[in-house]
Amino acid sequence: MKLIIDDADIEAIRRMAAYYPVDGVTTNPTILSRTGRKPYEVLKEIRDFLGDEQELHVQVTAADAEGMLKDADRIRKELGPQTFVKVPVTREGLKAIRLLSERGVSVTATCIYTRMQAFLAGKAGAVYAAPYVNRIDNLGGDGLQTVRDIHDIYRKNDIPCRVLAASFKNSNQIQELVKYGIGAVTAPPAVIEGLIGNALVDMAVADFARDFEKIAGSGITMAEA
Ligand code: E4P
Repeated sequence: MKLIIDDADIEAIRRMAAYYPVDGVTTNPTILSRTGRKPYEVLKEIRDFLGDEQELHVQVTAADAEGMLKDADRIRKELGPQTFVKVPVTREGLKAIRLLSERGVSVTATCIYTRMQAFLAGKAGAVYAAPYVNRIDNLGGDGLQTVRDIHDIYRKNDIPCRVLAASFKNSNQIQELVKYGIGAVTAPPAVIEGLIGNALVDMAVADFARDFEKIAGSGITMAEA
């Protein structure tokens, strides 16, 4: 399962990449707006940092298919043809997903709240489909079950689309999906940090260090013992 950072703050991205085995970055217009900077200026910095191998997902903002195609052209021109173009699964979006996929563009279908949105986006050729776990929960649905069902729908219908689950508010939601082996999750830095945050682990490590100092001396590690 790929683990992707859902943020456009370059400092946060650098910090996360230094510590965690991450596979790329997703953005959306709201995430970009939080930087307060020009979109392509921010995105180029992110692309330069990620290099060509790691994934970068950037969303179109036009409402109609024709405009989405133009947005996709500009996104790929500025950020490289390997960039994943995120397209919301509206009626116009479905048309754009099919046309872009036919042209060899890697599409991430986004704004997915229902299984049928995901089914149609997969059939239209999307590489990834991004269901919004937390937003589905907030509507009284079951975000995690929706993700598992979409994963199964693709398997059972031989649709070669992977699930890129998005919209997380806590780390436990991610653990449930790791167990299920979906394609990818994207989460904000704080939620990724929560995957490892555990005071008991910190206490155990402190105990080891304290015991070792009894034989090696204060502040001494294996490098100097
Ligand atoms: C993915 O990139 C989605 O746009 C994002 O995860 C949505 O998250 P939110 O529901 O916290 O806005």
